[in-house]
Amino acid sequence: MSSLKILVIPGSLRSGSHNVRLAATAMAELVQAGVDVTRISLGDFPLPIYDADLEADSGVPKPALNLKRMLGAHHGVLLVSPEYNSAPPPLLKNAIDWITRVRERDEPPGHVLRGRPFSLASASAGRFGGARCLMMLRLILSGCRATVIPNQLSLSFADQAYDDRDRLKHGADIDMLNAMVRQLIDVAQQMRQHD
Ligand SMILES: Cc1cc2nc3c(=O)[nH]c(=O)nc-3n(C[C@H](O)[C@H](O)[C@H](O)COP(=O)(O)O)c2cc1C
Repeated sequence: MSSLKILVIPGSLRSGSHNVRLAATAMAELVQAGVDVTRISLGDFPLPIYDADLEADSGVPKPALNLKRMLGAHHGVLLVSPEYNSAPPPLLKNAIDWITRVRERDEPPGHVLRGRPFSLASASAGRFGGARCLMMLRLILSGCRATVIPNQLSLSFADQAYDDRDRLKHGADIDMLNAMVRQLIDVAQQMRQHD
């Protein structure tokens, strides 16, 4: 059987982003576990803010179709999201909204999300590490009938969480990362076998 394929999507475009950094850390763990990992930037999938009139006039933008196909080509997805005012940032929410509007062949809306394993992580320089945005993301994705795995990682005080070799330095963070990665792999493997 070919390698398990996992897609990693950071929810920030910022240079020096804590979430892009955490996505890279998680990616390294996944690679070490033998997974075939693709990390993308949502900057390569530019999308206007969702507008039903725009959709009616010009259809779903090509980057949304590309993003949907990218998801469809992977057995599982890891989202690594900043928290903006207790919620996921517009960049990520808007991408999810557009993905749910793509319909290829006779698929129902949001088909690509259904049953697909997702794990969630966040990083913030604050005490809660973006945990509130993960609650909302969990709700949003569950509403789209994705399989959101229980283990997650919210990295508090992200600006102080790494050592000088760019590795997570606190045991609790490392344990949360390992548990999340392990569970994503297990669930994605199980669901792949049932496909
Ligand atoms: C509009 C806005 C709202 C924010 N709200 C929160 C928040 O609710 N909780 C939090 O921990 N950080 C909040 N932050 C701080 C972000 O966590 C911080 O900017 C973080 O570095 C963004 O992620 P990034 O480093 O991956 O770009 C907010 C930042 C912005 C710009």
